[in-house]
Formats: sequence, C-alpha cells, structure tokens
Amino acid sequence: MIEVSQLTKKYGDHVAIDSLNFTVKKGEVVGFLGPNGAGKSTTMKIITGFMAPSSGAAQIAGYDVFENPIEVKRRIGYLPETPPVYLDMNVEEYLSYVAELKGVEKERRLQLVNRAVEKTNLGQVRRRLIHNLSKGFKQRVGIAQALVSDPEVLILDEPTVGLDPKQVAEIRDLIKELRGQHTIILSTHILPEVQATCERIIIIHRGKIVAQDSLANLSALQSGGRKVHLKVRKSAAELGAKLKGIRGIQKVVSGATPQDWELDTESDDEIVETVAREIIAGGYGLLEIGSVKADLEDIFLKLTYGDSSPNGSGQRMEVHA
Ligand SMILES: Nc1ncnc2c1ncn2[C@@H]1O[C@H](COP(=O)(O)OP(=O)(O)O)[C@@H](O)[C@H]1O
Ligand SMILES: [Mg+2]
Repeated sequence: MIEVSQLTKKYGDHVAIDSLNFTVKKGEVVGFLGPNGAGKSTTMKIITGFMAPSSGAAQIAGYDVFENPIEVKRRIGYLPETPPVYLDMNVEEYLSYVAELKGVEKERRLQLVNRAVEKTNLGQVRRRLIHNLSKGFKQRVGIAQALVSDPEVLILDEPTVGLDPKQVAEIRDLIKELRGQHTIILSTHILPEVQATCERIIIIHRGKIVAQDSLANLSALQSGGRKVHLKVRKSAAELGAKLKGIRGIQKVVSGATPQDWELDTESDDEIVETVAREIIAGGYGLLEIGSVKADLEDIFLKLTYGDSSPNGSGQRMEVHA
C-alpha cells in the first residue's frame, strides 16, 4: 500500500532524511518512532504529497506521490503536526468543507461527517466554533478531518502530542478501533504510544532508519538481554575494558560514582556469575551485583541516544574498549 525507496530530503546542506526504504502493507498499523528532529514529520509531508523530496520516491496504492498527487490525496487522510483547522467555522461545517475538498459527493457528505464526528467523540461540540474548543477537542477535530473522506490510508503526525493522559487514552482507543479499516502510519517520540497501538515499528534516528520490525520481534529480540549493575570497592580505569572483554557484554557504562558500573548484555543469568567471578578474581572488591531484564525502552534508548553526544548526558559515559 505504501512504498518508500531511497527517500532523501535536504534542507540546504542539512540532510533531514537519508535514503529511507520501507513498505507498509494494506491494513497494517505502523509506528514511526524517533526523538524530536529525527525526520518523522519530513517523511510524512513527503509521502502525503505536501513536500517534494530531494531524491527517491514514494508510492501510495501504486501511485507516485509526485506524478499523481491528486490520486494520492484522495486516498489519504493526513493529520499534520500543526493541524490546519479553520477556527471561525463550526466543527460540522469544517468537516463538511474538508469532505468537499476531498471530492466526496454531496449525498455522502453528511453521512461521512456523522461517522467522523461519532468516531472522534465530537457530538457534543459539533455546532461549536473550532476557535472556542480546548486543545484536546481541536486535536480530535484534526483527526476527524483526516478521517472524514474515509480514506484507505491514515497518516497521523504525533496524534497525541500535547494532550492530557485521559485524552491520550481516548485517542489510543480510537486508533485501535480504526485498525483493520485503514492502513495507518502514526509518528511519535514516545515509546508507550507505539506499544499501545502499533503492530510494527520503524525507529528513525537522525534521518536514518535504525530498526524496523514487529513489536513482538523487537521485544523478543531483547527478552534474553539483561542489564547488570554492580558496585566495587576499588575503582580502576582498566575494569571497564576488562568488563567489555567478557563475552556477551555489549556495552559498559560507568555509573553515578566511580565505583558503580552498568552493563548491557545479550545473555541470561550466567553472565551475572561470570562478571562476579572476574571481579573477585581481579581483586576489585565486589560490593553489589544485580540484574534486570532489558525492555523495549532500552533498545529504543540504545538505538537513538546511545551515540547522541560524545560525553553522554554528563553522568553516564560509555567505555570503548
Ligand atoms: N523547513 C525546514 N527547514 C530547515 N530544516 C528543517 C525544516 N523542517 C525540519 N528541519 C530539520 O530537519 C530535521 C528533521 O525534522 P522533522 O522532520 O521535523 O523531525 P521530527 O518530526 O522527527 O521531529 C530536523 O533537524 C529539523 O530541524
Ligand atoms: Mg515532527
């Protein structure tokens, strides 16, 4: 349904997205996950035909977004990062206007407006001016306008940004409800968002795709991994390199004090025993050791923040052995 190949966008010299390749099948709900500035909105503006790429191509339902923008827009409902809501119209008028722009015939318009109003729970405000609505309601109007032409594809750019927890929960429920009726791509910089609503995740960082897989696979990939934290009596610089040399340890990070260390591992409980043995044998004075299972949040952080600055946040520093 959606095919993106070698998609690249430069703003001047700045490469916002760099050779992205991905596909989304009909009926899938895909989460576009990445920190602010990763390139999510840029990608969405291009695949909805609102902006030209510097190079590469995108197709929706077989139509190239540049050669056939009209065919593409007819099949897409798009919630941009700043929804273009006409503040001096009431909700119903606005939705009907959007439906008209999208080429919905007059006879079907009222029915589709009613459906969008119902799905987004806008019944109580349907005759109110958009200008007078709260942020949460305005966001729902933005989603309603994306839905109103009953498009095959929904592209939602950070649909829950700026909403309170109750409103976030409502939007998540709505997205779950729309599953199966539309092919959906939504973007977010918050992991729980994709965990709650998406079957597949594309993680994007600094304009590049760093991982894409089903939520189940990404979680399983990780489920063997453990984070080990330990405290030693004697701090010694070479301990970092020594730990890094142990098989199964992927990353060694110095902790809050020079005595504390944190290790990312890909192995199971055995690694804890091995680490303990090494420390005792080396005479570092083992004070504490413990481990927790790594979760999806750890992979996300590792993929997107692991290399973000040479000195980390100032308190955690990666040791390169
Ligand atoms: N109109 C623009 N002009 C110049 N740089 C831009 C413009 N829009 C976005 N950028 C830059 O491109 C990168 C990707 O931005 P964006 O796609 O908005 O990321 P995201 O939606 O993931 O936060 C960022 O570094 C951002 O500063
Ligand atoms: Mg954005």
